[in-house]
Amino acid sequence: MTQVASAEVHDGRDEAKSDEIVLDASGLAKVFGNGSSPVRAVDGVDLRVRHGELLLIMGPSGSGKTSLLTMIGGLLRPTSGVVRIGGHDITSMKESELPEMRRHLVGFVFQTFNLLESLSALENVEIALNLAGVRGRQARDKARRLLTDLGLGTRLDFKPRSLSGGEKQRVSIARALANDPQILLADEPTANLDSKHGHDVVVLLRDIVRKQKRSVVIVSHDHRIREVADRVLWLEDGRIKDIGKLARDPVCMMIVEETGSLTYAYDGRTYHFCAQGCRREFIHTPHMFVGRNSSEASGKGASARLDEVESQDSDD
Ligand SMILES: Nc1ncnc2c1ncn2[C@@H]1O[C@H](COP(=O)(O)OP(=O)(O)OP(=O)(O)O)[C@@H](O)[C@H]1O
Ligand SMILES: [Mg+2]
Repeated sequence: MTQVASAEVHDGRDEAKSDEIVLDASGLAKVFGNGSSPVRAVDGVDLRVRHGELLLIMGPSGSGKTSLLTMIGGLLRPTSGVVRIGGHDITSMKESELPEMRRHLVGFVFQTFNLLESLSALENVEIALNLAGVRGRQARDKARRLLTDLGLGTRLDFKPRSLSGGEKQRVSIARALANDPQILLADEPTANLDSKHGHDVVVLLRDIVRKQKRSVVIVSHDHRIREVADRVLWLEDGRIKDIGKLARDPVCMMIVEETGSLTYAYDGRTYHFCAQGCRREFIHTPHMFVGRNSSEASGKGASARLDEVESQDSDD
C-alpha cells in the first residue's frame, strides 16, 4: 500500500487547514451475526471530523460506540459504508494493507491502555515507531521526547506495572501520537482512572487538540470531556440522534438523555438516571446527591440543553 507512506502523511498534515475534513465516514453500518437474530450495532452513520477538532461521541451502553470507533480506525470491517481518513479510502483496502494504514493514519487510545507489560514506557512508544519503519536512535529520541512532553520524563524506564493508571494512559497517548497520525481515536480513555488522573487525561487530550491541532474522536460517558469537546454526538441504537435535552445523573454524574431515562421526583424536581442502581441509591439517600451540580441537575425545566451539541444534519 504505497499511498500510505509516512512522508506523504506528514505532508498532508502540515498543509492541513482547520476546515479540512480529516475523517469522512458515510453510510457506516455493522451487523453482527446473521440468521434469526442479527445485531445491527451501527446502523447508517455519517460522520465528518475536521482538522483540529475534538469530537465526543456519547450514548448508552450497547449503542454501538466501540463498533463505530473501531470501524473508523480500520480495526473492524463495516458491513457497509465508506471511511476515508486523510483522503484514503480505508474500507476498500485489503486486509493485508490495514496494519500499515493504522500505523500511519490512526492512533488508538484504549480504556485498558494495552501496553506491553515486559517493556518500559520508552520501549512501548519506541516499538510503535519501529513498526512504522523508524529505527535506532531516531526512534528512541522521538519516544523520549513524546513521553517527556507528556510529563513522563522521569518514568521512561518504568515498566507499566510500576506506573499509575494516569501515567499508563499517558504512555498509551504518547504511543498513539508516535507516528503523527491524522486522527486520534480514544475509547473511554478515562473510564479506568480515578478522578484526578481522569482529569489529567482530559486536559492532556484537550491540549493535544488545541496546541498540536490534532483531530481527536473520543467515545466516553465522561462529562468532563463534554466540557472540552468542540462537538458532541449522541449515538443510540447504532444511529446518531439529535439530542434534545440532556441531564446529569446526580449519583454517577453521567450525562443521560432525558427522553427514555429512568426518573424520580424529589422535592419538586425530576431527576434522571442512567440505570436502576443509581436511581435506587438516590431514593435511599437523596440528600447525598441533591445539589451536587445544581446547574446541570434536571427538573422543572432546568434540563441542560447543550448548545455545543449538534445534530449530524448540521454537520453536513
Ligand atoms: N463481536 C460481536 N459479536 C456480536 N455482537 C457484538 C459484537 N461486538 C458488539 N456486539 C453488539 O453490538 C452492540 C454494540 O456494541 P458496542 O460494543 O459497540 O457498544 P458500546 O456503545 O461501545 O457499549 P459500551 O458503552 O458498553 O462500551 C451490542 O449490542 C453488542 O452486544
Ligand atoms: Mg464500548
